[in-house]
Amino acid sequence: MCGIVGYIGNKNCVPILINGLKRLEYRGYDSAGIGIIENGNSSIIKNKGKVSALEERIHNMNLHAGLGIGHTRWATHGIPNEINAHPHSNSNNTLFLIHNGIIENYQTIKTGLKKLGYHFTSETDSEVLVHLIDSFLVKGYSLCKAVQLALNEVEGTYGIAVIYREEPDKIVVARKGSPLVVGLGENENFIASDVSAILAHTKQVVYLDDGELAVVSKDNFTVKTISDKEIEKEVHEISMSLEEIDKGGFPHFMLKEIMEQPESVRNSMRGRLLIDEGTSKLGGLTEVVDRLVNSKRILISACGTSWHAGLVGEYMLEHIARIPTEVEYASEFRYRNPIIDKDDTVFLISQSGETADTLAALREAKNRGALVLGICNVVGSTIARESTAGVYIHAGPEIGVASTKAFTSQLVVLSLITLLIARKKSLSAPEGREIVKELQALPDKISEILKLNDKIEELANEFKDANNFLYLGRGYNFPVALEGALKLKEISYIHAEGYPAAEMKHGPIALIDENMPVVFIAPKDSTYDKIISNIEEVRARGGKIIAIADDGDGEIDRIVDHVIKIPRTIEMLSPILNSIPLQLLAYHIAVKKGLNVDQPRNLAKSVTVE
Ligand code: G6P
Repeated sequence: MCGIVGYIGNKNCVPILINGLKRLEYRGYDSAGIGIIENGNSSIIKNKGKVSALEERIHNMNLHAGLGIGHTRWATHGIPNEINAHPHSNSNNTLFLIHNGIIENYQTIKTGLKKLGYHFTSETDSEVLVHLIDSFLVKGYSLCKAVQLALNEVEGTYGIAVIYREEPDKIVVARKGSPLVVGLGENENFIASDVSAILAHTKQVVYLDDGELAVVSKDNFTVKTISDKEIEKEVHEISMSLEEIDKGGFPHFMLKEIMEQPESVRNSMRGRLLIDEGTSKLGGLTEVVDRLVNSKRILISACGTSWHAGLVGEYMLEHIARIPTEVEYASEFRYRNPIIDKDDTVFLISQSGETADTLAALREAKNRGALVLGICNVVGSTIARESTAGVYIHAGPEIGVASTKAFTSQLVVLSLITLLIARKKSLSAPEGREIVKELQALPDKISEILKLNDKIEELANEFKDANNFLYLGRGYNFPVALEGALKLKEISYIHAEGYPAAEMKHGPIALIDENMPVVFIAPKDSTYDKIISNIEEVRARGGKIIAIADDGDGEIDRIVDHVIKIPRTIEMLSPILNSIPLQLLAYHIAVKKGLNVDQPRNLAKSVTVE
């Protein structure tokens, strides 16, 4: 979603804001803007389109200021244009505000403010905030107090940053439902929605929690609740490096992240495998392991790609750990009045750790007494912090909007959790050791798969003009079919559907003709014979078949048009390997169509609105 950055100090904030916004562009990117204050002058520059367009516009303006805020927007209310872009300002241009989130009662507030004579220029919900704060400033309140009073009237979610020409020694920030961090420097301080925006300047950060507000000056910061109670905050040290969030010579973040998977998968397992015992050790679960193992039921809630990882987790947990498991979209779970009690464990899977629906599902489950465990990538994210316990996937920063390495690392962590539970229940040590051995072999096998990049690129050339794709898999690889289809539609805008292969005959088979590419995930596992029958059914109707199959499968070649052969692993881990050729296929098709792979239209990396 939207990205927020701000600076106060002795340096010129303009390049700091622009570079910070570039780092945030992956969150939302239909328009961008900055607001700066210096020596009693205040100005806003904003643009439709990319941060680079904004940068070009300000290039010759010779702007200089020690105080400023910047924003990249992902439209929720009002089309992406210059007027709707942030910052928003009051009528005399002295108060600037940037906002990430949705103000649900903005119409009511707007009507009230209009009666007071306020004039609105944009179609956004965010603009009401700046005028609402202004309505308290004109009554003589300080900036901090005016923000507090305004937020008391607001329903919805926000991460906001506000600066005011009459109080140029501070930035006031507040959060409810949208992430905000304060970065600490020497004679300078920063604010951001995401540490990547300020990592070039500081590694010392303070995470705000919901309902908190911070007043940040160049050499100090104070945190209090919206209702004015002072709070002591812990300073965290970020371990992530700047190199980790650069493209490292690859044309796109997505390709870099696909290619990083031998390493990211290795990092997800590092120090967590107990080879002799044939089990795993997950420090984040030590305190809760008995409760987890004795859960009567496991629920997994997530969105998007993380939900697909959850579906694979369901197969693992039921098949190997023998615990009844259900998976549900977080957006449905939170509004369904779910039946959950203290004997249940609820896993929340989220790369960003900030997805609004997943966070709401977490709070709902916690409220009902379940054990609530997070599986997150971003360290210090809200879901990670609000979970009772959890496991980080340690995939490293994922910038490409389409999730790749986070997915495979989520699957690795789910298999480690499965192994941990199963070994405490009925799985024998030799069976556990077999899984450990296969886990250890994954990075090398992934490297082998990545060598097929050129071959997959050729395939992409052949299929880039298709209008539809069908992805079919069974068992553990049914969720891989869903994920393959999602990857393709996200970045190539080709309509694609994932289906359990057997369900094909209940509908999708009607679509099959010589123009329909069908991707089968067909490893030699317990479902192999059945999937071969499904391939025959498609072949009989002229569909173009691409199969992902095991090395050494000599039979499949004669019944498919194209086959990508990859190393074999055990059934439970096969989704980790099978998803990688599908990531590459989607990537190359999108590149060949000339599309913006890292920032696909309408999508955002971190969805902090419902
Ligand atoms: C967005 C992203 C997806 C991601 C989903 C869930 O839709 O574009 O890549 O899978 O959100 O995000 P999370 O951070 O919770 O895993």
